[in-house]
Amino acid sequence: MSHEEFPTDAPAVVTCGLPYANGDLHVGHLRTYVGGDVFSRALETLGQQTAFVSGSDMHGTPVAVNAESEGVSPESFALEWHEIYKETFPKFNVEFDNYGHTHDETNTAITRSIVRALEKEGYVYEKQIMVAYDPIDDQYLPDRYVEGTCPYCGEHARGDECDEGCQRHLEPGEIEDPVSAISGNPAEYRERTHKFFEVSAFSDYLSDFLDGLEGTSNARNQPREWIESGLKDWCITRDMDWGIDYPGAEVGDESSPDGASDESSDLVLYVWVDAPIEYISSTKQYTDRVGPDVYDWEETWRGDGEIVHVIGRDIIQHHTIFWPAMLRGAGYTEPRAVMASGFVTLGGKGFSTSRNRAVWAEEYLDEGFHPDLLRYYLATNGGFQQDVDFSWEKFRDRVNNELVGTVGNFLYRSLLFAHRNYGGTPDASVSPEVESRIEEAIEAFTAGVNDYSIRDAGNAAVRLASFGNEYIQRNEPWKLTDDDPAQAAQVIFDCVQIAKAIAILFVPIAPDRCAALWAQLGEDGSVHDVTVDEALDPPARSFDEPEELFEKIPDERVEELNEKLEARVAEATDDTTDDTADAQDEETETTGATDMDDIEPLTTDRISFEEFQDLDIRVGEIVSAAGIEGADKLAKLEVDIGLETRQIVAGIKQLHDLESLQGTRVVIVTNLEKAELFGVESNGMLLAAGEEADILTTHGDAAPGTKIR
Ligand code: 2FM
Ligand code: ZN
Repeated sequence: MSHEEFPTDAPAVVTCGLPYANGDLHVGHLRTYVGGDVFSRALETLGQQTAFVSGSDMHGTPVAVNAESEGVSPESFALEWHEIYKETFPKFNVEFDNYGHTHDETNTAITRSIVRALEKEGYVYEKQIMVAYDPIDDQYLPDRYVEGTCPYCGEHARGDECDEGCQRHLEPGEIEDPVSAISGNPAEYRERTHKFFEVSAFSDYLSDFLDGLEGTSNARNQPREWIESGLKDWCITRDMDWGIDYPGAEVGDESSPDGASDESSDLVLYVWVDAPIEYISSTKQYTDRVGPDVYDWEETWRGDGEIVHVIGRDIIQHHTIFWPAMLRGAGYTEPRAVMASGFVTLGGKGFSTSRNRAVWAEEYLDEGFHPDLLRYYLATNGGFQQDVDFSWEKFRDRVNNELVGTVGNFLYRSLLFAHRNYGGTPDASVSPEVESRIEEAIEAFTAGVNDYSIRDAGNAAVRLASFGNEYIQRNEPWKLTDDDPAQAAQVIFDCVQIAKAIAILFVPIAPDRCAALWAQLGEDGSVHDVTVDEALDPPARSFDEPEELFEKIPDERVEELNEKLEARVAEATDDTTDDTADAQDEETETTGATDMDDIEPLTTDRISFEEFQDLDIRVGEIVSAAGIEGADKLAKLEVDIGLETRQIVAGIKQLHDLESLQGTRVVIVTNLEKAELFGVESNGMLLAAGEEADILTTHGDAAPGTKIR
């Protein structure tokens, strides 16, 4: 199905993956929330009616295990974190229209009704399965209560996900060599009756759904492979107390299912059932507050709403397989798009909660940095599905060069000149050159939104500012005020018009700074209520002396911040035992941030220059890249190395968006022995750095075939 371009007449909802209410937020966690907020504001800037919702994920073992280690009830533990998150997000100008939580009445009621609808349609059945059990502590071990080996890739895996290996969702009973994550006791498997959702019945539907799904390409590619390799039904209950009780038969309730087994009364719903339903519940709560005339949740979720999910790439499967199947089975509207972000690293390595190797959200603010700076960094540092590395150096460079040097510089110099010489906007109208440049920026912004690229949408304003700098420099109005006052007025009018357009187009990225700019421009009302259609309306006539919107970050600050971070990590590493590190590390939640070990020590064995020269390393260009069927990690690449095109197998299948690699310059060792991997010949080696296979490329444009020395 192809969709109409944004803005459409239907109501949109942008949702952000629910954070587990179980620990402090760091800047890595903020990526998807900032991304969702930017996208939702960008839709509104285009004139699309949009609700922006999320909530805290209160249930499940990620919460229960942490509450247990603190000796408090999961409910009070999760509620405390929920309140903290609710206060933290707005501090980063992430302004949800509703931020609920999965344990509230609305979500409990809607979850129960959806599960009943699925039962009524015949999509739920009971099955006996083997469940991990700790015989010493006499406790069932659902999900994160158990650790062991992934049956698919052999890596260490926690409960319901293979977060250190192939990233697959793991069903109860699948993990091999299970041990209790709490007591360390070896676990055994015991037979229990559980409820299953018949996801396999939706294979054809899901294939079609994926064909029409918009958003980032990683959200379509991975699920297609999962469908091709055959969908398994999904266990939707757990042996736990904490969660939403499985909806059994209730007195006088005719819609409740027959035949719920006795055991089902002890079961709660799997956290991944009620978590996405909070998207619906949170939207409903928004409607309950503002009224259906302002926003009608039913029109969105039962009608023709434009549903856009913004998530971390580690939870693609839940949002593109389980969730759309649930929506379909219960008669709700399917999502239009899934935007799945890449990982966030810190100085090239993973965030580590246990080692205190993180820039915490509150810490960032306490250091006095404006939230809009981080928003800019996270939203525009790379494509949404690419990984983003945060370091104080890179942050300083982008703030100083782009926000201060390009955007701030243009705005301050032109508005100061306008204020001093004309008390605001001179008498003129926009020139054809500037009018068409602003139209171009609006088109780039609109295309960015329709491509689900918040980076492109954000860069539209930065490029316009860059043009503004070039325009004022080229026209030198300061030389014209005496000799050609009409032309000077024209140039400055144009600059004020550009500034107004920037205020509108940059709002999604820097909502607070753009509100300040709007006020500086003497414009009425709130810039948050303005759409792109007003970017070419004549600017307000008078305004006060402007202030600089962005401040430079001095180099000494960066040194100081790095020293603090290093000292903290050293202290935490000394204090932290492996046990507590394991219990507390939550790195792969919504950030998808990886927990890498420290950098490997340097090899002391030297090789001669001649030995180095034996390696034939060349520049290549990727012609095509595709996953190897049946292999979790391997991709087959065709690489043009100038003299010929080589077939190379590389372990990058899950780490890169293969489709987007075409045309990428790469570095290939061409004279390595040929190898056969998964039955596919590999004739060379692609060089890549680290666990995330950061692909080496060339700085300039050396042609394919160029020898690397
Ligand atoms: O992986 C997580 O952090 C989950 N709490 C995300 C839930 S998103 C959704 F489906 F609600
Ligand atoms: Zn695995």
